[in-house]
Amino acid sequence: MNENHDSDKVVVRGLRDVAAAETKISFVDPNGALYYLGYSIDDLVERVCYEEVAYLLLNGKLPNKNELDDFRAQLISEMNLPEAVINSIKSAPLCSHPMEVLRTEVSHLGMYDPDRDDNSEKVYRKRAIRLVAKVPTIVAAHHRLRINQKLVTPKEEFGFAENFLYMFRGIPADSEEKIAIDRFMTLHADHGFNASTFAARVTASTNSGMYSAVTSAIGTLKGPLHGGASEKVMLMLDNINTEEEVEEYIQGMLDDQKKIMGFGHRVYKTEDPRTKHLRVIAENLCHRANSLSLYSLCLKIENVVHEKKKIFPNVDFYAAVVLNALRVPKEYFTPFFASSRIAGWTAHIIEQYQDAVLLRPSSKYVGEFGRTFVPIENR
Ligand code: SDX
Repeated sequence: MNENHDSDKVVVRGLRDVAAAETKISFVDPNGALYYLGYSIDDLVERVCYEEVAYLLLNGKLPNKNELDDFRAQLISEMNLPEAVINSIKSAPLCSHPMEVLRTEVSHLGMYDPDRDDNSEKVYRKRAIRLVAKVPTIVAAHHRLRINQKLVTPKEEFGFAENFLYMFRGIPADSEEKIAIDRFMTLHADHGFNASTFAARVTASTNSGMYSAVTSAIGTLKGPLHGGASEKVMLMLDNINTEEEVEEYIQGMLDDQKKIMGFGHRVYKTEDPRTKHLRVIAENLCHRANSLSLYSLCLKIENVVHEKKKIFPNVDFYAAVVLNALRVPKEYFTPFFASSRIAGWTAHIIEQYQDAVLLRPSSKYVGEFGRTFVPIENR
């Protein structure tokens, strides 16, 4: 009888609080703070544009004016797609979810990367910039083609996040919308070893390419326990008509053992530090759109959920309200999340390449041993 060598192994369910590797990219403080390369997001969110954050994540420092201008120009020049990818987006079944299209087309894009067999540091940095620019372009292109509208090319005078929204909607953002989309992108850019980033790192740890690693990340982000939550938040808000219904609705979800989308977090023991910023942006946009009733419904939901479960809204709760106010259809909420997080994913993929170790955990075997084989004729 084989001795079970796993009997003394301890399983940490969900890898809760397990540090899988060292990182210098971001620190998620359980006490409710978030740092990108040592800068608190509270210091960054109202003072930098998304391009500065993407540059910081990929280069380890904030750019000076010339570096920022060059980086922005490089990103905007890469906001285009190979004809074959555009045709493939056109042929996607109408019922396909935008995250399925994004997952497919990032993988497809890899086949058209001119340097795809070169995994040198210089080339994979260039590849990261290509992906940071082209992921939002795929999202925008899919939306335009799906509503039978022409593709929109970026404007040199626009910022990157502003261009993304312009290419998606086909109309320029006004000053409030420009601020909102830039801060939305800044707040979503990176977040430690969340599931999609970890998936990207596992893939990169086998020395597989950046497109494969980002494809793994997109597939992982799609899940409603992760980035897919924001679309479900909007569905919940659409289903609750008045504040009077909140108590019964939330209690009903809890009685059915259902999770309230946009609430709770694996790491934060208090409010997600991104929430306070997204809440203010949501209030401003709701005020402008004369839809403050939606905003006060959110406050009511926050209070009821906290009363019942002592949990707080995470990044996805008010992100849904912000994107809804920017007139982004809910099925594109997670693609918008991915269009920012691509900067963090590529930074982590590069860090994993530099760490150069295979991420391969152990497991605790609890199955049977010593079963006697019976040939098929006797089974
Ligand atoms: C993101 O990891 C990251 O950093 C992710 C992210 C990023 O930027 O990359 O921050 C983005 O993914 C945010 C999370 C989006 N997901 C959701 O909003 C889905 C709803 N949330 C839950 O499924 C949950 O809170 C998780 C998945 C986010 C975290 O789950 P955990 O850490 O495994 O916690 P748990 O499920 O063990 O819950 C602990 C307790 C349980 O209560 P008891 O059974 O012990 O009584 O809290 C309860 C849970 O029931 N709980 C919830 C809840 N979240 C936790 N109860 C109801 N609704 C919830 N949302």
